[in-house]
Amino acid sequence: MQCETVKVVHQDEVQGGYRLLWLDAPGIAPHVRPGQFVHVLVPHMEEALLRRPFSVYKADGPVLQILYKGVGKGTRTMTYLRPGDQLSLIGPLGNGYPGLSTGRYPILVAGGYGMAALYLLARALPVQGVAFFGGQSASDILCVDEFEALGWEVRISTEDGTRGERGIITGVIDAWWTARDADAEPVEAYACGPNGMLHAVARRAMERDWRAWVSVDRNMGCGVGACLTCVLKVRSEEGGWAWKRSCKEGPVFECREICWEMEEAG
Ligand SMILES: Cc1cc2nc3c(=O)[nH]c(=O)nc-3n(C[C@H](O)[C@H](O)[C@H](O)COP(=O)(O)OP(=O)(O)OC[C@H]3O[C@@H](n4cnc5c(N)ncnc54)[C@H](O)[C@@H]3O)c2cc1C
Ligand code: FES
Repeated sequence: MQCETVKVVHQDEVQGGYRLLWLDAPGIAPHVRPGQFVHVLVPHMEEALLRRPFSVYKADGPVLQILYKGVGKGTRTMTYLRPGDQLSLIGPLGNGYPGLSTGRYPILVAGGYGMAALYLLARALPVQGVAFFGGQSASDILCVDEFEALGWEVRISTEDGTRGERGIITGVIDAWWTARDADAEPVEAYACGPNGMLHAVARRAMERDWRAWVSVDRNMGCGVGACLTCVLKVRSEEGGWAWKRSCKEGPVFECREICWEMEEAG
């Protein structure tokens, strides 16, 4: 983990409010593992006290890419970044996704920026399975060509039916599961997206004996394990629960570890 002043190389509008930001980060980019994130101190913001966490979409040589959406003050300010601007970056942070267990078949499940968060994993896994991408509308479906170029089959759903099947992505996953041979390899799922989607994947994993790794999205203060802003409740070995920091012990957890009932209670 490094704290580095990095330079903006380039920034592009992708679609639907999503933007791609290239950063020259030679001390960080070569060390990123799939599912890890960086913590960005957004420049040109008067009250820039808190950093913002972003998954690393791609990391090639000294340059890393972030795919982000302008949703609030920090991310909207980031849209003004120009080539040559400098910003402070901490990373790579978090545990990242584990590799594929022997004999398991990989599926990816993503909503929103989750498609970017899963790209490095899709590139690293030794077997290409099915990637399920869900969104409200066609403009929320990102990076499909990139995943297909890696050999993944991409199945899509949108709630308004403008791309792929109409409905939520779990409907597509259920149809795929029902059509699958009963004696096919057991599934290992990797998911990133809204909490409701992660919980829906977790329920299916527990019913169907999948292993499932979910990357949770928590507000983060420090990103390095010191402030406890990002904690979530996980099952403890003694049968109760304990806090874990999603920036340090996460953001990726095996879905059985999370106390989903307490998550929903808030
Ligand atoms: C591991 C991880 C990876 C992510 N990867 C991506 C990605 O690849 N692409 C993407 O578009 N988005 C990603 N996000 C979401 C992204 O971090 C948020 O969209 C972004 O922080 C919003 O910042 P904002 O200033 O625009 O929004 P705002 O809502 O204006 O501000 C959010 C800021 O307030 C802080 N905050 C809000 N509520 C609290 C609170 N109760 N306590 C403490 N702090 C609070 C947050 O930490 C954050 O700094 C990721 C989130 C996580 C946790
Ligand atoms: S964000 Fe500070 S402990 Fe996780």
